[in-house]
Amino acid sequence: MKRRRMARAERHGTKTRTRPFVLINMAMTADAKIATANRAISSFGSPRDHEHLLELRATADAVMAGARTVDLNPINMGPGGRKYLRKRATKGMQPYNVRIIVSRLGTVDPQAQVFREKFSPVLVLTTRQTSARRLEALRAVAHEVKICGTSEINFRSAFRWLFKKWKIRTLVCEGGGELNDALFQAGLVDELHLTVCPWLFAGRTAPTIAEGMGAAKLAKAIEFELKSSRYVGAEVFLCFGRRRGARRVASRENA
Ligand SMILES: NC(=O)c1ccc[n+]([C@@H]2O[C@H](COP(=O)([O-])OP(=O)(O)OC[C@H]3O[C@@H](n4cnc5c(N)ncnc54)[C@H](OP(=O)(O)O)[C@@H]3O)[C@@H](O)[C@H]2O)c1
Repeated sequence: MKRRRMARAERHGTKTRTRPFVLINMAMTADAKIATANRAISSFGSPRDHEHLLELRATADAVMAGARTVDLNPINMGPGGRKYLRKRATKGMQPYNVRIIVSRLGTVDPQAQVFREKFSPVLVLTTRQTSARRLEALRAVAHEVKICGTSEINFRSAFRWLFKKWKIRTLVCEGGGELNDALFQAGLVDELHLTVCPWLFAGRTAPTIAEGMGAAKLAKAIEFELKSSRYVGAEVFLCFGRRRGARRVASRENA
């Protein structure tokens, strides 16, 4: 058991780290949409994709999602059934992952499913923009509501707090696109797991894996490198790691 714990620490460099190792996991269509334009459909992966999500959660101390993802879906953000609890136990992890909701204005619904299931702490990261009334409602249902900035969340310091106070060493973020984008922009994403599903939703306003302003030039784009790819049935499971060091691809802008 001790050896496994040490291997895990080594893999994620936790001896030198001051923030969690961060993975993003998303299912997307062939045109990179994560939901239809009206947000009615966002669950379109196969049972194998759902298993993949639970397998990744089984490696994580915490699962994180944005307010709309939590509002619009009856999710509990937990580790799943006994098989996954056993996996956690063999890795020397807590049986249940911590659940983290990000909500700048505190608009997340206190009646959402995630707050109803009490098996592990639910933390809400928010800002000073949240009204006293909303803070009170969230404090009544969450384990802790943490103010992480005046108008924007400072994810770097929020992650240091999660590392230190909550002992979060590995964190899986499961969207949506707005939250993902903030983590990409802050340079905090270590691994990106994508399941490419055989659908095409189209629609200018259908959300993608990273919403926000976007890069205006290749030099400003965030570069990843492919770590693994697997075809299972009609889906492709991709894993990208953050690319460090010099770029290999010369810009072809204006060529
Ligand atoms: N296919 C998939 O794998 C997948 C996965 C997840 C979600 N989805 C779908 O994606 C859609 C939701 O995506 P989305 O981009 O619209 O929403 P989202 O990121 O889930 O939630 C947006 C809300 O979260 C809070 N938030 C996000 N980024 C923040 C930041 N940087 N700082 C502070 N607060 C932040 C804000 O809450 P406040 O308004 O309270 O400030 C914001 O309004 C849904 O349809 C969902 O079902 C699909």
